[in-house]
Amino acid sequence: MSTSRTSVSGTTLSRRRFLQAGTAGAALLGLSACGGGDDAAGGGRKVVLAASTDQRELLRKPLAQFQAAHGVTVEYRTMPADTGAYFDQIRTQFQAGSDDIDVIAGDVSWPAQLAAHGWLADLTPRLAPAARAAFLPATIAANTYRGKLYGVPWFNDAGFLYYRKDLLEKAGYGGPPETWQELQEMALKVKADTKILNGYVFQGARYEGGTVNGTEFIRSSGGDVLRNGKVVIGEPAAVRGLQIARGLVASGASPASVAEFKEDESAGSFVGGKAVFLRSWGYLYSVVSDKTQSKLSRSQVGVTELPVAQQGLPHVNVGGGWNLFLNRESRRKDLAWSLITYLAAEPQQRIWATEGSLMPTLTGLYGDAEVLGTMPVLGRARTVVPHTTTPPISPYYADMSLAMAKHFNASLRGAEPPEQAAAALASELQKIVDHG
Ligand code: GLC
Repeated sequence: MSTSRTSVSGTTLSRRRFLQAGTAGAALLGLSACGGGDDAAGGGRKVVLAASTDQRELLRKPLAQFQAAHGVTVEYRTMPADTGAYFDQIRTQFQAGSDDIDVIAGDVSWPAQLAAHGWLADLTPRLAPAARAAFLPATIAANTYRGKLYGVPWFNDAGFLYYRKDLLEKAGYGGPPETWQELQEMALKVKADTKILNGYVFQGARYEGGTVNGTEFIRSSGGDVLRNGKVVIGEPAAVRGLQIARGLVASGASPASVAEFKEDESAGSFVGGKAVFLRSWGYLYSVVSDKTQSKLSRSQVGVTELPVAQQGLPHVNVGGGWNLFLNRESRRKDLAWSLITYLAAEPQQRIWATEGSLMPTLTGLYGDAEVLGTMPVLGRARTVVPHTTTPPISPYYADMSLAMAKHFNASLRGAEPPEQAAAALASELQKIVDHG
């Protein structure tokens, strides 16, 4: 994936920031050295993995290899692709004290929420310091709650702007937009010139992805949701971010339906050749070149950073990523740990990167020629991801996220003026923080 910009030079600000404010191969991972756990209670040579339906295909072969190597059966519990729906399901299981699932492949904001209830096994003694040091520090921090490690980083995510290089060139533009205003103008011009259906598509639905996108609009305007534990979403810069998002819809640069779009709808529009710009995650790069899903070729598509509200503001995106947790009630902890270390180990991280366009969590792979060669999107991410800082995490992120998803969506639809949405959130988030 190429871009007319030389590099992605901004900062990936993960949701871990909110959280704070409110608040290698198996051997490489030190597997054998740090056993711990206890399978004595039995449960057979079987291990149960919960993971999203989205990841099933990519995991198929590596899981088959793990099964053959260990003489075990891995049962795949297919979870919803929507991270919020998945979280609800897994929380219900945990609330019931279930030992049914051993390993949970879960989202970046989950560790604190699950660990605060005592539902996750403490992995601190299992992951040796040397193995831990191989991971991007931010990804380890994201899995750390009150000084203990509750997850092993599986893959990393960051938000990128994908754009139709061919259409921008035809319209006379020398490169992708730097500001939201430029993006809006380009989207409207290309729409008018080519009759393409959509300008900019992103994830505006009322769900976790909507929270992520809304936060990006806010941060790229110089605002934030929380700063040093204080709710600052009512400040003018944050309101400006919500106004920009609403302006895209009101101007026609984004379709009204973007308020219903999640990852699949927005990506579908773009790879179907029906949109000029798309905000999506790194994995989308592998979808672009998949002829069964995409009408585009890689040469038509560029990838760069998300725009900012005005020149001079730092580029930001809200990072994501997935991690591997161990159920504290699991009766097969050693086996489960083998699966976790296998999935997070370097050979498998190469597969996630080269076949799934999923960004590694092992620092070393960001300088790896093979990985970079097959996943040029990493070249853009290389300077961003390793510098992500990760503060402590909040157990009440879920409530905050639900409130944001609701008001961001209402503002996007025009049902609530941006100022009102920000003011409502300022008070609702404050209550959550106060009573957290
Ligand atoms: C991606 C990210 C995840 C985020 C989700 C939002 O899966 O990896 O962190 O929560 O998108 O839809």
